[in-house]
Amino acid sequence: MALTPTRRDLLAGAAAAIGAPSASVTASQSYPVFRALAARRGLLWGSAVEPQVMDADADFAALVRRECAVLTPENAMKWNALRPAPGQFDFSAADRVVALARAQNAYVHGHCLAWHEAMPDWLMQALNPSTGRELLTGHILSVVSRYAGQVRSWDVVNEGVERADYRPDGLRASPWLKALGPGYIDLAFHTAHEADPRARLGFADYGLEYDDVRWMVEKRCAMLIMLKGLLARGVPIDALALQGHLDAARPPSFGPGLGEFLDRVADLGLEIYVTELDVSDQTIPGDPAARDQVVAGVYHAFLERVLRQPAVRMVNTWGLADRHTSKTTFFPRADGQPVRPLPFDADLQPKPAAFAIAEVLTGAY
Ligand code: G3I
Repeated sequence: MALTPTRRDLLAGAAAAIGAPSASVTASQSYPVFRALAARRGLLWGSAVEPQVMDADADFAALVRRECAVLTPENAMKWNALRPAPGQFDFSAADRVVALARAQNAYVHGHCLAWHEAMPDWLMQALNPSTGRELLTGHILSVVSRYAGQVRSWDVVNEGVERADYRPDGLRASPWLKALGPGYIDLAFHTAHEADPRARLGFADYGLEYDDVRWMVEKRCAMLIMLKGLLARGVPIDALALQGHLDAARPPSFGPGLGEFLDRVADLGLEIYVTELDVSDQTIPGDPAARDQVVAGVYHAFLERVLRQPAVRMVNTWGLADRHTSKTTFFPRADGQPVRPLPFDADLQPKPAAFAIAEVLTGAY
């Protein structure tokens, strides 16, 4: 199995991926190696992982080792994983992700310090204006300082913009905002920076990708205003993290609007990360082969646009193979067929999406 695909392999595979006449190459003849291809253009490529899955599935762990220069704990560093009870920490799963990353000479992208989901019940009951500051800063200081020097970057605040909450500032009326006001964002970033001054600190959100979706275009505006405000107040933020949850049911509209938005973010001096890239095939018709082609086209169109912006420094998919994706549980297909949102299939074979990604990474398009 060639671990370093030839250009012919990539082009042939990519051609098959985006609908051109397929060439003779088959998946078994060559594999795209994202980690290596990304590194050639100064880009970090990674995936979300669950430590228990990595430890239980050796073949999958080998694929992650080959393909990923960054590991993101899909759930292990969330409040409900780290904080089983008031005053208690359980770092076991998070420590395992850090150890797995170290073993494969990969970075860790930490996810996530302040989010309105994955909040344990005890926190929801305890959080109020008089307790909020200590709860937020205590958590961040404990977690970020534990992994200082081991976690390269963090999703400090996740999904903090939500225009449907009708706030003039466009912020989500999350439990953190209700307890502490909009300043919880500043506080979270300052605290994370205090805990690990070397870590790159990001604000992560979804719904920024499509040019032809009005609420996403409006969300981009709210995001830029929010980011400018943080920077104007001297908040130590280093990056905007686009989650990149895409939908094969939507025509790819990753056009000049997305390009302009990314340019504006870069003009602020921020890095840009894609942190949760996947392409849902939950609602599109067709057999697996047909769906794989559509999914590949979406990966190709999105990355081809996004990677034009040099401030994009990292791309992580939200899982690597269809064998292990949370979409199976949370976004199943009505026809009962397995979902196929990721670059590798349930047998850990590269899908057209993998070759489409490789083609964009090699710039051969
Ligand atoms: O591990 C427990 C298991 O022991 C228990 O039996 C089972 C049933 O209660 O739950 C398991 O935990 C689940 C966990 O996923 C692992 O499968 C949690 O209930 C479930 O809430 C959790 O869902 C995660 C979700 O975030 C909420 O935290 C998904 O895996 C994860 O893919 C999803 O990821 C989010 C990002 O963090 C933020 N952006 C959106 C993205 C997709 O929704």
